[in-house]
Amino acid sequence: MQKVTLASELRNVIADWRSAGERIAFVPTMGNLHAGHLKLVSEARQKADRVVVSIFVNPTQFGAGEDFETYPRTEREDQEKLETVGADLLFLPPVSEMYMPDAKTVVSVAGLSELHCGASRPGHFNGVATVVCKLFNLVQPDIALFGLKDFQQLAVIRTMVRDLNFPVEIIGVDTVREPSGLAMSSRNGYLSTEEIKAAPKLYESLCMARDAVLSGKQAYADIEIQAMLSLREAGFQPDYFSICRSNDLKKAEAEDKDLVILAAAKLGRTRLIDNIYFSR
Ligand code: PAF
Repeated sequence: MQKVTLASELRNVIADWRSAGERIAFVPTMGNLHAGHLKLVSEARQKADRVVVSIFVNPTQFGAGEDFETYPRTEREDQEKLETVGADLLFLPPVSEMYMPDAKTVVSVAGLSELHCGASRPGHFNGVATVVCKLFNLVQPDIALFGLKDFQQLAVIRTMVRDLNFPVEIIGVDTVREPSGLAMSSRNGYLSTEEIKAAPKLYESLCMARDAVLSGKQAYADIEIQAMLSLREAGFQPDYFSICRSNDLKKAEAEDKDLVILAAAKLGRTRLIDNIYFSR
């Protein structure tokens, strides 16, 4: 696996591959790689001739008081893991390579970016859309793979790609879970031993809510309230628990068929998100 830190080096490698007619897959990450990331890279490996992975802890998607400074940076271990799943190129830029000190341009997907996580983390999805837009311009991939665990992020990116005519196919990849059901996340490393035991309750509450919907219960607000209560009882501070339409992430009505239930909750100081999507 080659490793580059400069955009110019990245462009040179990509240009060679392009001139050889090779198909390029891209997996953007913030590092501290777990099995969920490695699944993205393995799927990318099957779908393209070349796989590019970026590791960049993107400052613009962290709000004031969030964990930008302490976000786990494990580059050496990440590189070893990427070798095992056959990535071809790792792009590991410093912040100065990605952002000019007087950068003026922000990519914003209006509406979608203000819902759910966007309501609690103002500006977060502008940071995500901006950095993904910049990375797409640098890598110019044919396909890019993202985890379905970040369902709203994926919706924001799909909308950006559509609206800005990026010639990139976006592929969502299923969430990888611990045997307990807990969705894998780099932030799980913040959880204490006690919190690790309680954490699977988030996914359990999503499964229970889905089962209630599938059993025909139409009072979605009641299902949401019940889920928030049971999360509180389990020691969480829930942020939102919302039964939505999977296409636009707005509140689902009784006639909607394709649904996603989105949830975010803090356990101690750690903010966990998860979701479950299904058709009824
Ligand atoms: O999902 C992530 O790790 C990040 O939000 C992403 C897509 C790499 C952008 O920084």
